[in-house]
Amino acid sequence: MKRSLVERDHAHLWHPYTQAKTAPAPLPIVRGEGVYLYTEDGKRLLDGISSWWVNIHGHSHPTLNRALADQAQRLEHVVFAGCTHAPAVELAERLVQILPAGLSRVFYSDNGSTAVEVALKLAYQYWRNLGRPERRTFVTLHHAYHGDTVGAMSASEASLFTQAFAPMLFDVTRVDAPYCYRCPLGLERASCRIECLGSLEAALQRHRDTVAAVLVEPMLQAAGGMIVWPSEFLAGARRLCDEYGALLIADEVLTGFGRTGRMFACEHALVTPDIICLSKALTAGYLPLGATVATEQIFDAFLSDDRAKTFFHGHSFTANPLACAVACASLDLFHESDVLGRVARLEAQLRSGLAPLTELPHVGDVRVIGGVGVIELVSDKATRQAAGYLDGIGPRLAAAFLDRGLLLRPLGNIVYFMPPYVITDEEVDWALGQIEQVVAGAMA
Ligand SMILES: Cc1ncc(COP(=O)(O)O)c(C=O)c1O
Repeated sequence: MKRSLVERDHAHLWHPYTQAKTAPAPLPIVRGEGVYLYTEDGKRLLDGISSWWVNIHGHSHPTLNRALADQAQRLEHVVFAGCTHAPAVELAERLVQILPAGLSRVFYSDNGSTAVEVALKLAYQYWRNLGRPERRTFVTLHHAYHGDTVGAMSASEASLFTQAFAPMLFDVTRVDAPYCYRCPLGLERASCRIECLGSLEAALQRHRDTVAAVLVEPMLQAAGGMIVWPSEFLAGARRLCDEYGALLIADEVLTGFGRTGRMFACEHALVTPDIICLSKALTAGYLPLGATVATEQIFDAFLSDDRAKTFFHGHSFTANPLACAVACASLDLFHESDVLGRVARLEAQLRSGLAPLTELPHVGDVRVIGGVGVIELVSDKATRQAAGYLDGIGPRLAAAFLDRGLLLRPLGNIVYFMPPYVITDEEVDWALGQIEQVVAGAMA
C-alpha cells in the first residue's frame, strides 16, 4: 500500500525546532498559490506567517516562476571566487540603489545566519586590518535573535535556544532593548525619553577601546518576542556608535524589503548602518540567499598587497544565479506595483482590527509595525506575568487556528500575524476574526 507523505517523513526526517517525540505530524503541503497553502488531503490554509517570514508576493508567483525558469535555462550555478555573472551584478547594483546611502559593497552568502556571521567577521577583521585588533568584542541587545550558527547564536540573547551550546559560544556584552511593554527601567513610553539607551552608552563607555560593533535588529526584534521599537532608539544607537567609534550592524534579515512599512527598517530613523544583513524576503521567499552589504570604508580596509588582509570567507552557493535572478524579479514587482502602499494599508487594517483585542482579559499588549501584527498574552494583566516561549498556550492556539484554516506559529505567549503582502483586505478581516475568536475562546 502506498505510504502517505507523513509516514515517509516520519521514517527519515528531522525537522527544525521540533521535538519529534511530542510534535504533531507535519502538514503535508503539496501546493502553494498566493497566500494559500494546500495539503495532501485537500485542506486550504492561509499562510499567516509568510512561511517563516520569507514570502512577500505570494506563493508560486508567475513572474518569479518565470524568472527562475529563464535563469535555469542559462546558468544554474557557478563558483563565485574568480567568476561573476549577470544576476549577481544586477542584484548588487539594484540593492545599492535602494539601500540607505553609503552601503555599497555586497557580499553574498546563503541565509540569514550566514549574513550575520559574515557581518560579525567583517567587523572583526576590519579593525584587525586597520591595526586595531583590540577592537574585537560585540555589543548586542537583550531579546535578540540573529540565527543558529555559532556566531549568530553568540550574539543572540542567552535563551532556551542557545543554552545547550553555551560553552561553545563567545562572550558578548548585552544591553537593554526598548521593550516598551516590559520596560527594563519601569518607565512608560508616553513620558519616557528613551532612557533605556543609557545601558548601551554605559557599555560603550566601559569598553570604549574594545568594541568592534553594535549589532541590532532595527525596529522589530523578531524571534525574541516581536518587540516593536520607538525609532528614537535606533537613531540613538547610531549616534552612540559614532560617538564611541564602534561600527553599527543592522540585522535586517526579517525587516528588509518592506516588512516594517519601509523598504528597510533603518529608514524609520534615517540611519545608515556600517553593515546591513539581508535574507528571507530578498528572494521573496523563493530560494536561500543572504547578502551582507558594507560601506566603502569597510571594503577599503581589506584592500592590501598583504594577502593576510583578504576576507577568507565563502560558501559553495555564494551568489547562486537562480536566487539572484529571482531577487531581481522580486525588485521588479516592487517597481511595477505599489507594494509599500499595500503594506501601509495592511498596517492600518492591522491597527484597527487588533486594537479591540486589548479589551480581552489575557491580552497584555497589542503592537503593530508595517505588515506585522502582534498580541502578547499574559496570565495576569496587572502583573504582566507570562510563561514565555514554552507557554503551552502557543501550541494549543496554533492547533485551533489550523482547524480554522489559518497557519500561525505563536512564539509561546506571543501571537503574531505576518502574511504575504498580497493578502486582500477581506482575507485580513477573515484572519483577524479567527484570531480574535480563538484568543478570546482559549483564554476564557
Ligand atoms: C533577525 C534575524 N536574523 C537572522 C535570522 C536567521 O536567518 P536564517 O533562519 O535564514 O538563518 C533570522 C531568522 O529568523 C532573523 O529573524
